[in-house]
This record gives sequence, structure tokens and C-alpha cells, in this order.
Amino acid sequence: MANMGKTLTALGSYWKGRKPLILNKACILGCLLPATADSKRDLEIFEMLMAMDGESLQYRLKQKKDKTSRELIERVNHTPYKELVQAASRPEECADDLFGHIWDEVNAHLGTRAGSFPELVEQLGMMRFGHRPRLADTFCGSGQIPFEAARLGCDVYASDLNPVACMM
Ligand SMILES: C[S@@+](CC[C@H](N)C(=O)[O-])C[C@H]1O[C@@H](n2cnc3c(N)ncnc32)[C@H](O)[C@@H]1O
Repeated sequence: MANMGKTLTALGSYWKGRKPLILNKACILGCLLPATADSKRDLEIFEMLMAMDGESLQYRLKQKKDKTSRELIERVNHTPYKELVQAASRPEECADDLFGHIWDEVNAHLGTRAGSFPELVEQLGMMRFGHRPRLADTFCGSGQIPFEAARLGCDVYASDLNPVACMM
């Protein structure tokens, strides 16, 4: 859990089920990405979109100025993932150019022409549904799911019985 390490307001931890936004991103992309005949490549592309590939991890380590993170930059391929994650910045903390290197490979695999997440999500939606993906969360609580979906480029609808949730 990362209640104090999130992009959304810390007040959101009032909702006990609140998860880090990165988990919502994984679920939303997982719903939209096609499964091709090359499952190994599917996973590599998913890891790039999640900033879990080697080049992204090097970028995330460089964002941290401490000695341990710097030493790991050259050892990304020989260091356990858990250790890398502990030493690296979260993807949310990095600028969008974290993903600059992924789009050629992502587009070649998926048949898209995207240079950003909203473009990718719109194009995947067109391919699958004929329109931009729509996400509805009728019990949205603190709003973590619609927030991340909107940030990725989905059209979102959200509601909750609790007026404090709607205010947030
Ligand atoms: C587990 S929380 C949702 C947590 C949310 N996914 C988050 O990350 O913050 C369930 C939510 O359902 C809402 N809820 C319960 N019954 C409802 C109803 N009949 N209509 C709309 N919302 C309802 C509650 O107010 C609560 O915010």
C-alpha cells in the first residue's frame, strides 16, 4: 500500500479499498490490449506501457539522486525486480518522456499510430468498440478508477451514494 505516496489527495485513504493508481492503469490496459499469437511479446509490450522494461527502469533510477539508485542503473538486467522498484521513482513521479522510447515498438506490435496514452487508448477503443473506450464506475468511492481511466484517455462516468465521494 502507498497511502501517502499517491497522486490523488491523501484524504482518499478514507476509502479502505483504495489502491495505488498504477494498479488501475494495469487493469485498464489489461482490458484494452489484444491478446496476440505472440504472448511473450504481448507481455513485453505491457511491461513497456507500465514502465517496467529495462530502459524505463534506468530512467526511473536516474530520477533518484541517491548512491544506491545510481549504482543500480548499470545493473538493471542483473538485479531482482523488487530491489529495482524500491530504488526507483514511481512512473507517476516521472515526466511523460519516460515513455518516449516505447511508442515505435508498441505501435509495430499493436498496429497503432500512438505517441501518448490517450492516443493509444483511443485507437485501441476504435479497433475494438468503434469508439473511444467508456468506463463507468457506479460505486467510485474516492474516484481512483475513473481518475486513472480519464488520465489514460477513456471517457468516464462515475457516481457514488456518498456525497463526500462525489465532492472528491
Ligand atoms: C469499496 S468503496 C469503493 C472504493 C473505490 N473503488 C475507491 O478506490 O475509492 C464502495 C463505495 O460504494 C458506495 N456505495 C455503496 N452503496 C451504493 C449505492 N447503492 N449506490 C452508489 N454507491 C454506493 C459507497 O459509498 C462506497 O464509496
